Amino acid sequence: MTTIAIPPGMPQYDDVPRYDVAAVRADFPILGREINGHPLVYLDSANTSHKPRQVLDVLAAHYARHNANVSRSVHTLGTEATEAYEGARAKIARFVNAPSVDEVVFTKNSTEAINVVAYAFSNASLRPDGDPRFRLGPGDEIVISEMEHHSNIVPWQLLAERTGATLRWFPVTDQGRLDESGLTDLVNERTKIVSLVHMSNILGTVNATSRITARVREVGALLLLDCSQSVPHMPIDVVDLDADFIVFTGHKMCGPTGIGVLWGRGELLAAMPPVFGGGSMIETVAMGGSTYAPPPARFEAGTPPIAEAVALGAAVDYLTGVGMRAIQWHEKELTAYALDALATVPGLRIFGPEVPVGRGGTISFALGDVHPHDVGQVLDSLGVQVRVGHHCARPVCTRFGVPATTRASFYLYTTTEEIDALVAGLEQARKVFG
Ligand code: ALA
Repeated sequence: MTTIAIPPGMPQYDDVPRYDVAAVRADFPILGREINGHPLVYLDSANTSHKPRQVLDVLAAHYARHNANVSRSVHTLGTEATEAYEGARAKIARFVNAPSVDEVVFTKNSTEAINVVAYAFSNASLRPDGDPRFRLGPGDEIVISEMEHHSNIVPWQLLAERTGATLRWFPVTDQGRLDESGLTDLVNERTKIVSLVHMSNILGTVNATSRITARVREVGALLLLDCSQSVPHMPIDVVDLDADFIVFTGHKMCGPTGIGVLWGRGELLAAMPPVFGGGSMIETVAMGGSTYAPPPARFEAGTPPIAEAVALGAAVDYLTGVGMRAIQWHEKELTAYALDALATVPGLRIFGPEVPVGRGGTISFALGDVHPHDVGQVLDSLGVQVRVGHHCARPVCTRFGVPATTRASFYLYTTTEEIDALVAGLEQARKVFG
Protein backbone atom coordinates (compact mmCIF):
# COMPACT_ATOMS: atom_id res chain seq x y z
CA MET A 1 0.00 0.00 0.00
CA THR A 2 1.32 3.44 -0.89
CA THR A 3 1.04 6.09 1.79
CA ILE A 4 0.84 9.67 0.60
CA ALA A 5 2.56 11.99 3.06
CA ILE A 6 0.46 15.04 3.80
CA PRO A 7 2.76 18.08 4.03
CA PRO A 8 3.14 19.59 7.50
CA GLY A 9 0.69 22.43 8.03
CA MET A 10 -2.04 20.73 5.95
CA PRO A 11 -4.82 19.04 7.93
CA GLN A 12 -3.68 15.49 8.67
CA TYR A 13 -6.30 12.81 8.07
CA ASP A 14 -6.97 12.35 11.78
CA ASP A 15 -7.20 16.12 12.27
CA VAL A 16 -10.09 16.57 9.86
CA PRO A 17 -12.98 17.78 12.00
CA ARG A 18 -16.24 15.93 11.34
CA TYR A 19 -19.83 16.08 12.49
CA ASP A 20 -22.89 13.96 11.92
CA VAL A 21 -24.60 15.65 8.94
CA ALA A 22 -27.75 13.50 9.33
CA ALA A 23 -28.08 14.60 12.97
CA VAL A 24 -27.61 18.23 11.94
CA ARG A 25 -30.27 17.87 9.22
CA ALA A 26 -32.70 16.51 11.81
CA ASP A 27 -32.40 19.85 13.66
CA PHE A 28 -33.86 21.75 10.67
CA PRO A 29 -37.64 21.15 10.47
CA ILE A 30 -37.96 22.59 6.96
CA LEU A 31 -35.59 19.97 5.52
CA GLY A 32 -38.36 17.40 6.03
CA ARG A 33 -40.57 19.17 3.47
CA GLU A 34 -41.55 17.98 0.03
CA ILE A 35 -41.62 20.34 -2.96
CA ASN A 36 -43.64 19.40 -6.04
CA GLY A 37 -43.80 15.80 -4.84
CA HIS A 38 -40.04 15.51 -4.33
CA PRO A 39 -37.94 15.75 -1.18
CA LEU A 40 -36.72 19.31 -0.73
CA VAL A 41 -33.18 19.83 -2.06
CA TYR A 42 -32.24 23.26 -0.78
CA LEU A 43 -29.25 24.69 -2.63
CA ASP A 44 -29.86 28.39 -1.95
CA SER A 45 -28.16 28.99 1.38
CA ALA A 46 -26.11 31.91 0.03
CA ASN A 47 -29.47 33.63 -0.37
CA THR A 48 -30.75 32.70 3.07
CA SER A 49 -30.00 29.74 5.31
CA HIS A 50 -32.51 27.58 7.13
CA LYS A 51 -32.93 27.75 10.91
CA PRO A 52 -32.49 24.89 13.36
CA ARG A 53 -35.09 24.13 16.03
CA GLN A 54 -32.62 25.42 18.64
CA VAL A 55 -32.88 28.92 17.11
CA LEU A 56 -36.64 28.77 16.45
CA ASP A 57 -37.22 27.73 20.07
CA VAL A 58 -35.17 30.63 21.46
CA LEU A 59 -37.04 33.08 19.22
CA ALA A 60 -40.43 31.79 20.39
CA ALA A 61 -39.35 31.57 24.05
CA HIS A 62 -38.13 35.15 23.99
CA TYR A 63 -41.56 36.44 22.99
CA ALA A 64 -43.41 33.92 25.17
CA ARG A 65 -41.46 34.53 28.39
CA HIS A 66 -39.03 37.45 28.32
CA ASN A 67 -40.55 40.08 26.04
CA ALA A 68 -39.84 43.68 27.06
CA ASN A 69 -37.96 46.64 25.67
CA VAL A 70 -34.23 46.82 26.35
CA SER A 71 -31.96 49.36 28.04
CA ARG A 72 -34.82 51.49 29.37
CA SER A 73 -36.84 49.52 31.94
CA VAL A 74 -35.97 48.72 35.55
CA HIS A 75 -38.60 45.97 35.82
CA THR A 76 -37.76 42.27 35.83
CA LEU A 77 -38.82 41.56 32.26
CA GLY A 78 -36.89 44.59 31.03
CA THR A 79 -33.81 43.35 32.86
CA GLU A 80 -34.21 39.84 31.42
CA ALA A 81 -34.64 41.16 27.88
CA THR A 82 -31.65 43.49 28.24
CA GLU A 83 -29.49 40.68 29.62
CA ALA A 84 -30.50 38.41 26.73
CA TYR A 85 -29.84 41.15 24.15
CA GLU A 86 -26.46 42.10 25.59
CA GLY A 87 -25.65 38.41 26.12
CA ALA A 88 -26.18 37.87 22.39
CA ARG A 89 -23.79 40.73 21.66
CA ALA A 90 -21.16 39.05 23.84
CA LYS A 91 -21.65 35.71 22.04
CA ILE A 92 -21.24 37.36 18.66
CA ALA A 93 -18.13 39.23 19.83
CA ARG A 94 -16.61 35.90 20.93
CA PHE A 95 -17.66 34.21 17.66
CA VAL A 96 -15.52 36.62 15.60
CA ASN A 97 -12.91 37.15 18.34
CA ALA A 98 -13.70 40.86 18.72
CA PRO A 99 -11.38 42.41 21.31
CA SER A 100 -14.33 44.19 22.95
CA VAL A 101 -18.05 43.50 23.07
CA ASP A 102 -18.65 47.23 22.47
CA GLU A 103 -17.23 46.79 18.96
CA VAL A 104 -20.32 44.80 17.93
CA VAL A 105 -23.10 47.04 16.58
CA PHE A 106 -26.44 45.45 15.77
CA THR A 107 -27.97 46.53 12.47
CA LYS A 108 -30.81 45.25 10.30
CA ASN A 109 -28.49 43.40 7.90
CA SER A 110 -25.13 43.75 6.11
CA THR A 111 -26.57 46.35 3.73
CA GLU A 112 -27.52 48.61 6.62
CA ALA A 113 -24.13 48.03 8.27
CA ILE A 114 -22.28 49.21 5.14
CA ASN A 115 -24.61 52.19 4.82
CA VAL A 116 -23.90 53.14 8.46
CA VAL A 117 -20.19 53.37 7.68
CA ALA A 118 -20.77 55.24 4.41
CA TYR A 119 -23.11 57.76 6.06
CA ALA A 120 -20.78 58.20 9.02
CA PHE A 121 -18.11 59.19 6.50
CA SER A 122 -20.29 61.83 4.85
CA ASN A 123 -21.56 63.10 8.20
CA ALA A 124 -17.93 63.51 9.26
CA SER A 125 -17.21 65.27 5.98
CA LEU A 126 -19.89 67.87 6.78
CA ARG A 127 -18.39 68.74 10.18
CA PRO A 128 -15.40 71.05 10.47
CA ASP A 129 -14.24 68.94 13.44
CA GLY A 130 -14.89 65.60 11.67
CA ASP A 131 -12.11 63.03 12.08
CA PRO A 132 -9.85 63.42 9.01
CA ARG A 133 -9.86 59.64 8.48
CA PHE A 134 -13.57 59.82 7.60
CA ARG A 135 -13.62 63.16 5.78
CA LEU A 136 -14.01 62.85 2.02
CA GLY A 137 -14.09 65.41 -0.74
CA PRO A 138 -13.11 65.93 -4.37
CA GLY A 139 -9.75 64.26 -5.04
CA ASP A 140 -10.31 61.52 -2.45
CA GLU A 141 -10.93 57.97 -3.57
CA ILE A 142 -13.05 55.01 -2.50
CA VAL A 143 -11.99 51.56 -3.76
CA ILE A 144 -14.27 48.55 -4.21
CA SER A 145 -14.19 45.64 -6.68
CA GLU A 146 -16.09 44.39 -9.69
CA MET A 147 -17.22 41.31 -7.72
CA GLU A 148 -19.19 43.20 -5.08
CA HIS A 149 -22.81 42.63 -4.14
CA HIS A 150 -24.89 45.73 -4.92
CA SER A 151 -24.91 46.44 -1.19
CA ASN A 152 -21.18 47.11 -1.38
CA ILE A 153 -21.42 49.22 -4.55
CA VAL A 154 -24.41 51.53 -4.29
CA PRO A 155 -23.68 52.96 -0.79
CA TRP A 156 -20.23 54.00 -2.05
CA GLN A 157 -21.61 55.45 -5.29
CA LEU A 158 -23.98 57.50 -3.15
CA LEU A 159 -21.13 58.55 -0.84
CA ALA A 160 -19.08 59.61 -3.88
CA GLU A 161 -22.08 61.66 -5.12
CA ARG A 162 -22.53 63.33 -1.74
CA THR A 163 -18.89 64.24 -1.27
CA GLY A 164 -17.40 64.61 -4.76
CA ALA A 165 -14.98 61.71 -4.10
CA THR A 166 -14.11 59.24 -6.88
CA LEU A 167 -15.08 55.56 -6.90
CA ARG A 168 -12.52 53.08 -8.28
CA TRP A 169 -12.49 49.27 -8.37
CA PHE A 170 -10.39 46.13 -8.70
CA PRO A 171 -11.26 44.18 -11.86
CA VAL A 172 -12.00 40.44 -11.88
CA THR A 173 -9.85 37.90 -13.79
CA ASP A 174 -11.23 35.35 -16.26
CA GLN A 175 -10.91 32.76 -13.47
CA GLY A 176 -13.14 34.83 -11.22
CA ARG A 177 -10.35 35.99 -8.92
CA LEU A 178 -9.67 39.53 -7.76
CA ASP A 179 -7.15 41.13 -10.15
CA GLU A 180 -4.62 42.68 -7.79
CA SER A 181 -2.11 43.57 -10.52
CA GLY A 182 -2.97 47.29 -10.24
CA LEU A 183 -2.93 47.31 -6.43
CA THR A 184 -0.35 50.06 -5.89
CA ASP A 185 -2.00 52.39 -8.40
CA LEU A 186 -5.51 51.62 -7.22
CA VAL A 187 -4.85 51.96 -3.50
CA ASN A 188 -2.81 55.13 -3.10
CA GLU A 189 -2.40 58.18 -0.86
CA ARG A 190 -5.76 59.55 -2.11
CA THR A 191 -7.62 56.40 -0.98
CA LYS A 192 -9.76 56.89 2.13
CA ILE A 193 -11.51 53.52 2.27
CA VAL A 194 -11.27 50.14 0.54
CA SER A 195 -14.44 48.07 0.82
CA LEU A 196 -14.19 44.50 -0.45
CA VAL A 197 -16.18 41.33 -0.38
CA HIS A 198 -14.47 38.57 1.59
CA MET A 199 -16.30 35.75 -0.22
CA SER A 200 -18.20 36.53 -3.41
CA ASN A 201 -21.92 35.65 -3.32
CA ILE A 202 -21.90 34.89 -7.04
CA LEU A 203 -18.44 33.51 -7.90
CA GLY A 204 -17.73 31.79 -4.60
CA THR A 205 -14.23 33.30 -4.61
CA VAL A 206 -12.68 33.81 -1.19
CA ASN A 207 -10.38 36.82 -1.40
CA ALA A 208 -6.99 36.59 0.28
CA THR A 209 -6.75 40.06 1.76
CA SER A 210 -3.25 40.26 3.28
CA ARG A 211 -1.55 42.12 0.37
CA ILE A 212 -4.43 44.55 0.18
CA THR A 213 -4.42 45.09 3.94
CA ALA A 214 -0.69 45.81 3.87
CA ARG A 215 -1.19 48.38 1.11
CA VAL A 216 -4.17 49.95 2.89
CA ARG A 217 -2.00 50.38 6.00
CA GLU A 218 0.88 51.81 3.93
CA VAL A 219 -1.31 54.59 2.52
CA GLY A 220 -3.24 55.23 5.75
CA ALA A 221 -6.67 54.25 4.37
CA LEU A 222 -9.32 52.11 6.09
CA LEU A 223 -10.52 48.62 5.13
CA LEU A 224 -14.05 47.24 5.31
CA LEU A 225 -14.68 43.57 4.51
CA ASP A 226 -18.14 42.35 3.55
CA CYS A 227 -18.15 38.99 5.34
CA SER A 228 -21.81 38.17 4.67
CA GLN A 229 -20.81 34.98 2.86
CA SER A 230 -17.76 34.08 4.94
CA VAL A 231 -18.79 34.44 8.59
CA PRO A 232 -21.51 31.74 8.19
CA HIS A 233 -19.12 29.26 6.57
CA MET A 234 -15.64 29.49 8.09
CA PRO A 235 -13.95 30.54 11.33
CA ILE A 236 -13.49 34.32 11.21
CA ASP A 237 -11.18 36.14 13.58
CA VAL A 238 -11.25 39.91 13.22
CA VAL A 239 -7.82 40.23 14.81
CA ASP A 240 -6.29 37.88 12.21
CA LEU A 241 -8.21 39.48 9.36
CA ASP A 242 -6.80 42.87 10.37
CA ALA A 243 -9.66 44.85 8.80
CA ASP A 244 -11.11 48.04 10.28
CA PHE A 245 -14.74 47.07 9.79
CA ILE A 246 -16.51 43.85 8.92
CA VAL A 247 -20.20 43.32 8.25
CA PHE A 248 -22.36 40.20 8.24
CA THR A 249 -25.99 39.21 8.43
CA GLY A 250 -27.91 36.86 10.71
CA HIS A 251 -30.23 35.16 8.25
CA LYS A 252 -27.39 33.57 6.26
CA MET A 253 -25.96 31.95 9.42
CA CYS A 254 -28.96 30.06 10.81
CA GLY A 255 -30.34 33.18 12.50
CA PRO A 256 -33.50 35.16 11.76
CA THR A 257 -33.95 37.93 9.22
CA GLY A 258 -33.83 41.55 10.40
CA ILE A 259 -30.56 41.32 12.32
CA GLY A 260 -27.04 42.04 11.09
CA VAL A 261 -23.72 43.10 12.55
CA LEU A 262 -21.24 45.90 12.03
CA TRP A 263 -17.97 45.16 13.75
CA GLY A 264 -15.53 48.06 13.89
CA ARG A 265 -12.28 48.76 15.71
CA GLY A 266 -13.23 50.36 19.02
CA GLU A 267 -11.31 53.57 18.55
CA LEU A 268 -12.75 54.06 15.03
CA LEU A 269 -16.33 53.54 16.15
CA ALA A 270 -15.70 55.95 19.03
CA ALA A 271 -14.51 58.59 16.54
CA MET A 272 -17.41 58.10 14.10
CA PRO A 273 -20.37 60.48 14.14
CA PRO A 274 -23.86 58.97 14.50
CA VAL A 275 -25.98 58.14 11.48
CA PHE A 276 -29.50 57.54 12.79
CA GLY A 277 -30.82 59.87 15.50
CA GLY A 278 -33.37 58.88 18.12
CA GLY A 279 -33.83 57.15 21.44
CA SER A 280 -31.02 55.18 23.08
CA MET A 281 -28.21 56.69 20.98
CA ILE A 282 -27.90 59.84 23.05
CA GLU A 283 -26.09 60.97 26.17
CA THR A 284 -28.21 64.07 26.70
CA VAL A 285 -30.77 65.94 24.62
CA ALA A 286 -31.64 69.62 24.89
CA MET A 287 -33.62 71.76 22.47
CA GLY A 288 -30.39 73.50 21.49
CA GLY A 289 -28.47 70.30 20.70
CA SER A 290 -27.60 66.78 21.83
CA THR A 291 -24.59 64.72 22.77
CA TYR A 292 -24.21 61.08 21.87
CA ALA A 293 -23.71 57.79 23.66
CA PRO A 294 -20.51 55.85 23.09
CA PRO A 295 -20.62 52.87 20.69
CA PRO A 296 -22.35 50.54 20.20
CA ALA A 297 -25.44 52.45 21.47
CA ARG A 298 -24.52 55.50 19.33
CA PHE A 299 -25.35 53.46 16.22
CA GLU A 300 -28.47 51.69 17.53
CA ALA A 301 -31.17 54.37 17.56
CA GLY A 302 -34.67 53.29 18.53
CA THR A 303 -35.95 49.93 19.72
CA PRO A 304 -33.60 47.37 18.20
CA PRO A 305 -34.47 43.92 16.78
CA ILE A 306 -34.32 42.37 20.26
CA ALA A 307 -35.70 38.85 19.72
CA GLU A 308 -33.76 38.62 16.46
CA ALA A 309 -30.49 39.48 18.22
CA VAL A 310 -31.20 36.93 20.95
CA ALA A 311 -31.95 34.29 18.31
CA LEU A 312 -28.76 35.20 16.44
CA GLY A 313 -26.94 34.50 19.71
CA ALA A 314 -28.59 31.04 19.66
CA ALA A 315 -27.49 30.57 16.04
CA VAL A 316 -23.92 31.35 17.02
CA ASP A 317 -24.18 28.81 19.86
CA TYR A 318 -25.48 26.25 17.38
CA LEU A 319 -22.73 26.85 14.81
CA THR A 320 -20.09 26.82 17.53
CA GLY A 321 -21.50 23.53 18.81
CA VAL A 322 -21.13 21.94 15.37
CA GLY A 323 -17.74 23.62 14.94
CA MET A 324 -16.84 26.23 12.35
CA ARG A 325 -13.72 24.35 11.21
CA ALA A 326 -15.82 21.24 10.68
CA ILE A 327 -18.44 23.22 8.72
CA GLN A 328 -15.71 24.74 6.57
CA TRP A 329 -14.22 21.32 5.91
CA HIS A 330 -17.60 19.77 5.08
CA GLU A 331 -18.29 22.53 2.56
CA LYS A 332 -14.81 22.18 1.06
CA GLU A 333 -15.51 18.51 0.40
CA LEU A 334 -18.95 19.31 -1.02
CA THR A 335 -17.46 21.96 -3.29
CA ALA A 336 -14.82 19.56 -4.64
CA TYR A 337 -17.53 16.95 -5.19
CA ALA A 338 -19.84 19.44 -6.91
CA LEU A 339 -17.15 20.87 -9.20
CA ASP A 340 -16.30 17.32 -10.34
CA ALA A 341 -19.97 16.39 -10.75
CA LEU A 342 -20.86 19.56 -12.67
CA ALA A 343 -17.90 18.99 -15.00
CA THR A 344 -19.72 15.84 -16.25
CA VAL A 345 -22.68 17.91 -17.53
CA PRO A 346 -22.14 18.66 -21.23
CA GLY A 347 -22.16 22.36 -22.10
CA LEU A 348 -22.00 23.56 -18.50
CA ARG A 349 -19.84 26.64 -17.91
CA ILE A 350 -18.78 27.66 -14.42
CA PHE A 351 -18.31 31.32 -13.51
CA GLY A 352 -15.66 31.57 -10.83
CA PRO A 353 -12.80 29.35 -9.69
CA GLU A 354 -13.07 25.83 -11.07
CA VAL A 355 -10.88 24.35 -8.34
CA PRO A 356 -11.92 23.98 -4.69
CA VAL A 357 -9.12 26.25 -3.49
CA GLY A 358 -9.65 29.87 -2.48
CA ARG A 359 -13.38 29.46 -2.95
CA GLY A 360 -16.42 28.49 -0.96
CA GLY A 361 -19.48 26.37 -1.64
CA THR A 362 -21.32 28.76 -3.94
CA ILE A 363 -21.19 27.83 -7.62
CA SER A 364 -22.64 29.87 -10.48
CA PHE A 365 -22.99 28.38 -13.92
CA ALA A 366 -24.65 28.49 -17.33
CA LEU A 367 -26.16 25.42 -18.97
CA GLY A 368 -25.36 26.00 -22.63
CA ASP A 369 -27.78 28.59 -23.99
CA VAL A 370 -30.67 27.58 -21.75
CA HIS A 371 -31.92 30.65 -19.90
CA PRO A 372 -31.22 30.40 -16.14
CA HIS A 373 -34.92 30.99 -15.39
CA ASP A 374 -35.81 27.91 -17.46
CA VAL A 375 -33.09 25.90 -15.67
CA GLY A 376 -34.47 27.10 -12.33
CA GLN A 377 -38.01 26.07 -13.26
CA VAL A 378 -37.03 22.54 -14.28
CA LEU A 379 -35.02 22.18 -11.09
CA ASP A 380 -37.89 23.53 -8.98
CA SER A 381 -40.28 21.01 -10.55
CA LEU A 382 -37.92 18.36 -9.15
CA GLY A 383 -37.75 19.92 -5.69
CA VAL A 384 -34.28 21.46 -6.25
CA GLN A 385 -34.15 25.07 -5.07
CA VAL A 386 -31.44 27.21 -6.65
CA ARG A 387 -31.21 30.94 -7.27
CA VAL A 388 -31.26 32.35 -10.80
CA GLY A 389 -30.65 35.94 -11.89
CA HIS A 390 -27.85 38.44 -11.38
CA HIS A 391 -27.65 37.67 -7.65
CA CYS A 392 -27.46 41.40 -6.80
CA ALA A 393 -24.01 41.38 -8.37
CA ARG A 394 -24.85 42.59 -11.86
CA PRO A 395 -21.34 43.87 -12.71
CA VAL A 396 -20.09 40.26 -12.44
CA CYS A 397 -22.64 39.13 -15.03
CA THR A 398 -21.60 42.03 -17.27
CA ARG A 399 -17.94 41.06 -16.78
CA PHE A 400 -18.67 37.54 -18.00
CA GLY A 401 -21.06 38.66 -20.76
CA VAL A 402 -24.22 36.99 -19.44
CA PRO A 403 -27.49 38.52 -18.23
CA ALA A 404 -27.90 36.01 -15.40
CA THR A 405 -26.56 32.76 -13.97
CA THR A 406 -27.89 29.74 -12.13
CA ARG A 407 -26.37 29.41 -8.66
CA ALA A 408 -26.19 26.47 -6.27
CA SER A 409 -24.98 27.20 -2.76
CA PHE A 410 -24.28 24.83 0.11
CA TYR A 411 -24.27 24.88 3.90
CA LEU A 412 -23.64 22.64 6.89
CA TYR A 413 -26.75 20.56 6.14
CA THR A 414 -26.05 19.99 2.42
CA THR A 415 -25.27 16.43 1.27
CA THR A 416 -23.58 14.90 -1.78
CA GLU A 417 -26.94 13.24 -2.59
CA GLU A 418 -28.40 16.72 -3.02
CA ILE A 419 -25.61 17.60 -5.44
CA ASP A 420 -26.45 14.39 -7.34
CA ALA A 421 -30.08 15.57 -7.49
CA LEU A 422 -28.88 18.90 -8.92
CA VAL A 423 -26.85 17.15 -11.62
CA ALA A 424 -29.79 14.85 -12.48
CA GLY A 425 -32.02 17.93 -12.72
CA LEU A 426 -29.57 19.63 -15.06
CA GLU A 427 -29.56 16.53 -17.29
CA GLN A 428 -33.36 16.79 -17.31
CA ALA A 429 -33.17 20.49 -18.26
CA ARG A 430 -30.82 19.62 -21.14
CA LYS A 431 -33.36 17.07 -22.42
CA VAL A 432 -36.27 19.51 -22.12
CA PHE A 433 -34.48 22.41 -23.80
CA GLY A 434 -32.34 20.42 -26.24
N1 ALA B 1 -26.99 38.23 -1.05
C1 ALA B 1 -28.00 37.25 -1.20
C2 ALA B 1 -27.70 36.30 -2.33
O1 ALA B 1 -26.59 36.27 -2.78
C3 ALA B 1 -29.33 37.86 -1.28
O2 ALA B 1 -28.54 35.57 -2.77
